[in-house]
Amino acid sequence: MPDPYDIAPPLPKPALPGEVIVRESLEDLLDALASDLLFQAKACVRSFGDFHLALSGGSTPEPLYKRLMYDQRVRDFPWKKTHLWQVDERCVPHDHDQRNWKMIGGILLDHSDIPQAQTHPMPVLDPEGDLAYERQLRDALEWREKGHDRLDYVLLGMGNDLHTASLFPGSIALDAPTGRLAVFNDGPGVVPPKRMTLTYEMLNASRFLAIMVTGSNKRDAIARLVANTLDPDTPLGPHQAPVLGIQPLGGVVRWYLDRAACPES
Ligand code: 6PG
Repeated sequence: MPDPYDIAPPLPKPALPGEVIVRESLEDLLDALASDLLFQAKACVRSFGDFHLALSGGSTPEPLYKRLMYDQRVRDFPWKKTHLWQVDERCVPHDHDQRNWKMIGGILLDHSDIPQAQTHPMPVLDPEGDLAYERQLRDALEWREKGHDRLDYVLLGMGNDLHTASLFPGSIALDAPTGRLAVFNDGPGVVPPKRMTLTYEMLNASRFLAIMVTGSNKRDAIARLVANTLDPDTPLGPHQAPVLGIQPLGGVVRWYLDRAACPES
């Protein structure tokens, strides 16, 4: 009979820049992510009357978005007070399977009571859609008191090339001009198709940034980050490892990893 009071030994945490949460399984990790996201949402609604949430696409976050729709423990998520933004988008037609909004919308918009007027898909087919998206962000946030006119919660993923959002190694968006909040990204290093992405300036102004990395297929990428973090003689910078450009100015960056994504300790 196992000791019911046996506290499981803490899981090894990779040395990453920011707070690190590791959970044994994906389900346990989704528990932590959903709980923290609910806490942040409620705190912002209490303070500002609304919650500005920006979500990534890709495959990693899909189980979280589904969890938010069926988990009774987050049934009081303040969707009616939430503005839903995109971290990045592929420049393809609305109904294209590569469209991040198709996945996000199909899960969250179809199953929550978030008002349509508070959902902000990136206008990627508009040649000046990046400037339009910047205007939407500024219009939605500028009424908040100075210092709080920023995104409240950003969920990021990470590719095996250490990109995040659609900020790819060596790509032009890494050096977006000061003042730009969203830009198109294309050319060498950008995995096609052409993208639109929030910039470091917009991302690093955020209150809370969660970087969700799961699965054994990301273990080597995490190991490369740890090697750099533990071995300053081989510095990886944001140009080689864009996820390292996530350096919030006044906010928090918190990594959420399942054990499968952690290098063998
Ligand atoms: C996208 C995402 C991107 C994603 C990483 C990881 O548009 O592809 O926003 O930044 O987070 O590519 O992708 P996976 O979660 O599919 O591994």
